[in-house]
Formats: sequence, C-alpha cells, structure tokens
Amino acid sequence: MGTVSFAVVERLIGQVAGIPGDLIELGVFRGDTFLKMLPLAQQRGCLCFGVDSFSGMAAPGPRDGTHYPEGKFSVGGPGALQEQIEAAGCSDAARVCAGRIPAVLEQEELQARCGFAFAHVDLDHYQPTLDSLRWLWGRTSPGAVVAVHDYFETERGLASAAVRDFAKGIGVKFEVEASAIGASMGISSHAVFRREV
Ligand SMILES: C[S@@+](CC[C@H](N)C(=O)[O-])C[C@H]1O[C@@H](n2cnc3c(N)ncnc32)[C@H](O)[C@@H]1O
Repeated sequence: MGTVSFAVVERLIGQVAGIPGDLIELGVFRGDTFLKMLPLAQQRGCLCFGVDSFSGMAAPGPRDGTHYPEGKFSVGGPGALQEQIEAAGCSDAARVCAGRIPAVLEQEELQARCGFAFAHVDLDHYQPTLDSLRWLWGRTSPGAVVAVHDYFETERGLASAAVRDFAKGIGVKFEVEASAIGASMGISSHAVFRREV
C-alpha cells in the first residue's frame, strides 16, 4: 500500500547483528528494498534471498478486496533485477528465487538453508503472507526478526489479517514499527515478530 522505509529495515537488520543466518525478502518487485539489503548481507557474510513471482500478484482471494488485481507489480521476470545485482557487485550475496508462493518455497536452495536471521515480507495479499510466515517461522534462528510491511490495525483483510491470524495461530506477539515520517507521507508500518533466543 505504502512505500517501505529502508531506515526501519536497516535498523531491524542491525538488531540481528549477532544472530546467525541469512536475510530474505518475500515480495521484491523492482528490488528497491532488496538491492539495499545486499550490501548488509555482504557485511554480515551471509546470503540474501529475494523471492517473487516477478509476474506480479496472483488472483485476489476472499480476504484481498480489489486493490491488488492479478498481474499488478509485474516486472516481466527477474532479468532486470539480476542485471542490477551484477552492476552493484552483489552477485556473491544475492539469491533470486522466481515463482509463486507457496510453490517457489519448495526450491532446493531455499530448503537447504539452515536459518534466517531477518525476513522482510511484503506481499500485500492475505494468503501468500500467511503461507510465508508459516514457512519462515520454523526456519528462523533464535533471536531472528520477521517484519511484515503494510500492517494496519484498522485493515480487516490483506497482509494485516494474515499477521493477526498467524500470531493467534501460534500464540506469538508482534510489535508495530512505524517509520519516523509515518503514514501521512505514504510510508506504511511494519508488524515485527521476534523469535525467542
Ligand atoms: C509491494 S510489492 C513489493 C515491494 C518491494 N518489497 C519494495 O520494497 O519495493 C509486492 C510484490 O509481491 C509479489 N507477490 C505477491 N503475491 C505473490 C505470490 N503469491 N508469489 C510471489 N510473489 C508475490 C508481487 O509480484 C510484487 O512484486
């Protein structure tokens, strides 16, 4: 819905400095956030996974309304992002996984990773957000942070509903992290889950 405050993402990644594991973004679009996460992964000496269909949203489900129709955010494949990754000198740290959630999460390279220290989930729709949170949680390292973009207390569907349903389902709490500038500037809040150490 709104843009991502990278200041928030960077601060959260800073909070997992001592936590082993990779970084991952689910919902990459053109890579505005992902490309900035890559140098942080290089500094940590870990990988940064980027997961997206790169062909945009799937058909909306019953919790999604009409704001994100099928194909919205299509970038016609991962090629343009791969070029930017190479140009930025970040190919060593970047792993791009193209496909629809949940099927793409079965990719061998993703399955083979031992743990994630930080995840940024930015998928807008209800079901892929819930699927991603369920897939991620058991794969996070103790002390890891999972941040879901576009969390709104008043939103009854979309990613906000997935955050609440996930939290209720496994009995964990989350915090709401707002950017310093805030929603009035079109910058959305994150729901932040912290894995116990
Ligand atoms: C708002 S954009 C992500 C923006 C990005 N995080 C940024 O900071 O610029 C949402 C992305 O989620 C992806 N997406 C939504 N549902 C998906 C699904 N079921 N499988 C894979 N990707 C999906 C879309 O293709 C789109 O690129």
